[in-house]
Amino acid sequence: VPSLSPANIKAHLARFQAIADANGGNRAHGSPGFLASANYVKNLLDEAGFATVLQPFPYGGLTGYNVIADWPGGDPDDILMVGAHLDSVTAGPGINDNGSGSAAILETALEVSRQGLMSSRHLRFAWWGAEELGLRGSQYYVNNLPASERSKIKGYVNLDMIASPNIGYFVYDGDNGTVAGGTMAPEGSAELERTFKSYYASIGVPVQDIALNARSDHGSFLAAGIPVGGIFSGAEDIKDMAQAQLWGGTAGAVFDSCYHQSCDTISNIDDTALNRNANAIAHLVWASSVTSAPGV
Ligand code: PHE
Ligand code: ZN
Ligand code: ZN
Ligand code: ZN
Repeated sequence: VPSLSPANIKAHLARFQAIADANGGNRAHGSPGFLASANYVKNLLDEAGFATVLQPFPYGGLTGYNVIADWPGGDPDDILMVGAHLDSVTAGPGINDNGSGSAAILETALEVSRQGLMSSRHLRFAWWGAEELGLRGSQYYVNNLPASERSKIKGYVNLDMIASPNIGYFVYDGDNGTVAGGTMAPEGSAELERTFKSYYASIGVPVQDIALNARSDHGSFLAAGIPVGGIFSGAEDIKDMAQAQLWGGTAGAVFDSCYHQSCDTISNIDDTALNRNANAIAHLVWASSVTSAPGV
């Protein structure tokens, strides 16, 4: 299992910040800042040997894009997808939400290439457009997949906000089927939850379950019956006393006081959390990719 370069991850965030600075302060759906972000990600993946697609979709009279990147090889009938939304709100540059998840999965994908990972499962990475307007990009992707292709996706892992400054460590709950306010959605993936938790246990970081809900792009996959997992570091909710004891930080304050604001800049990042959570997704990709030999 690799150890990702903190400097590389931070460099991706610095690039997202620079792109926003050069394009009116945001990377929102339909804006030049979004398209520049998509091109930055796609170009690095192309150079690294991924098969990439820039998938356009219409929403609200504007064109959005998903970047989809396939790592060659692996079982085509057993696809693991890993995704993060790449768009920001119009109010700011969206560095924690969700430059952080975007940078973590980008550096994971680039490390897959550097190490020439021979995965037993087929690996597909995705950077979604227009999440902030209602999961539009991921919804478009899932809805436009033929049913035969959809059924090959055996798991989807979502990263949306992983470096909140008043940090929380949350793992999407996949083992009891909790869906806030919902009755129809199928369960998340117990296996993905377990795999994440084994990583955090190995580095001695306590985590809490967070109920699956439709608040980010995993909702598009849940709606299609695909098992999902993910990690999250907190948004507008308030950290309680017990959580402050677990993770440090400030009880009675929100996890990300710059959530959806102009101050969600490169300064709005907990570097330690960024590195831990990026390595958590790298761990999951490696762990899910190496299947034990038959009988082992
Ligand atoms: N989807 C929310 C946003 O982008 C963030 C979020 C993710 C909230 C996961 C709760 C759970 O603003
Ligand atoms: Zn988000
Ligand atoms: Zn958001
Ligand atoms: Zn659980």
